[in-house]
Amino acid sequence: MAWRHVSCLSSLLFFATLLAAFVELCNAGKTSTFIRKKYPSTDLPFDADVFAEPPGHNAPQQVHITQGNHDGRAMIVSWVYPFKGGSKRVHYHNEKTGEKKHANAIVVKYKWYNYTSGYIHHCTIKNLEYDTKYYYTIGGGDTRRTFSFVTPPEPGPDVPYTFGLIGDLGQTVDSNRTLTHYEHNPYKGKAVLMIGDLSYADDHPYHNNERWDSWGRFVERSVAYQPWIWVAGNHEIDFAPELGENEPFVPYLHRYHVPFEDSGSTSPLWYSIKRASAYIIVLSSYSACAKYTPQYDWLQQELPKVNRTETPWLIVLVHSPWYNSYNYHYMEGESMRVVFEQWMVQYKVDLVLAGHVHAYERSGRISNIRYNITDGLSVPTSDNGAPVYITIGDGGNIEGLAFSMTTPQPEYSVYREASYGHGIFDIKNRTHAYFSWNRNEDQYSTEADSKWFHNRFWYAHVQESD
Ligand SMILES: [Fe+2]
Repeated sequence: MAWRHVSCLSSLLFFATLLAAFVELCNAGKTSTFIRKKYPSTDLPFDADVFAEPPGHNAPQQVHITQGNHDGRAMIVSWVYPFKGGSKRVHYHNEKTGEKKHANAIVVKYKWYNYTSGYIHHCTIKNLEYDTKYYYTIGGGDTRRTFSFVTPPEPGPDVPYTFGLIGDLGQTVDSNRTLTHYEHNPYKGKAVLMIGDLSYADDHPYHNNERWDSWGRFVERSVAYQPWIWVAGNHEIDFAPELGENEPFVPYLHRYHVPFEDSGSTSPLWYSIKRASAYIIVLSSYSACAKYTPQYDWLQQELPKVNRTETPWLIVLVHSPWYNSYNYHYMEGESMRVVFEQWMVQYKVDLVLAGHVHAYERSGRISNIRYNITDGLSVPTSDNGAPVYITIGDGGNIEGLAFSMTTPQPEYSVYREASYGHGIFDIKNRTHAYFSWNRNEDQYSTEADSKWFHNRFWYAHVQESD
């Protein structure tokens, strides 16, 4: 009798093991159980040192730079004076030649409900040399401030270049940790792809725009020295008819200028740039994208222009992910995916990077472009010619992490983890790039996920491993 029990137990165990192996086979993705931070952090107080105003009356603050034209030979230098009367001039010089030049800024201001902005300056400095360090000075008298940046190398197929990847940053202690970890990352990112949701000012009563100012001072320590490439997220919309604010994107568009006209775009919310060996296309999740809309028409004309012999790495940035297996913002990116995904496959996009979901997720190379209403073929399938989709909305903002995930993990999802962190995309040459995702672990940053990318134009014949 006892032996029969043992025998039954063994059979049960055997089948349980078999079932577990089967489930494992069907679902090769990894859901990390790492949890360091269960609850959201509040925004740091206005008197936190990371928000400190520079000394001196009307000193220029919130200094930030972004690429100023399509090929990387211009830079937009922006800053804010709290009061009227500051100098509009940027003095800059080339470290190699010592040649001194200057350029003048345009000045904009805006009102939003009960807030009036400072004097926001934007100065495009042009005709820069490639791969050169420049020093630039703004302000006047005892409030002069000097910064520096390095221009990118001339676009070319085998030019190495390293991007930092940050999304949904906000201004909490976790945001500060993410930025610090990015600054100390040994790969030394040279420019940041900022995937939208900057300050989270709109999470405060009346969208307290003072939080836009404090955020500008917080990130200055990085973005005054290397360009951040901006993408508009939902926290940039600031649409509040109940407060009489009927026009979307007003604070964002006044504060963050981008070179959209250089790529034939009619809106700063979607545009493209070339930088070293990468071609970056920025899309807007919160603008119309259906056929015949300006964004659709622009992207349709834009994609055939990309010369992969010059810029092999084609990267698309969009705030709301098209593939997302968290129970947050589920399918919010679906309308855009349905319209644009077929082009991502057709034009061999290497990487589609998103934020919005406050967690990390990486897909395999998959597509879901066969659906035509009548056949019902609406399932993501493995597709060696398709992009990898990465969500990196885990900068560390006031809203906290997205812990809840759909179960079981979909087959298309290779790795997912609800932790704060940042990414690195390190281009080696025309065929290889190393991607890593670095989670925050207290004082340290740990590389928790990584992948070698094989370029889809130059190296597509090789089946990538996940
Ligand atoms: Fe978002």
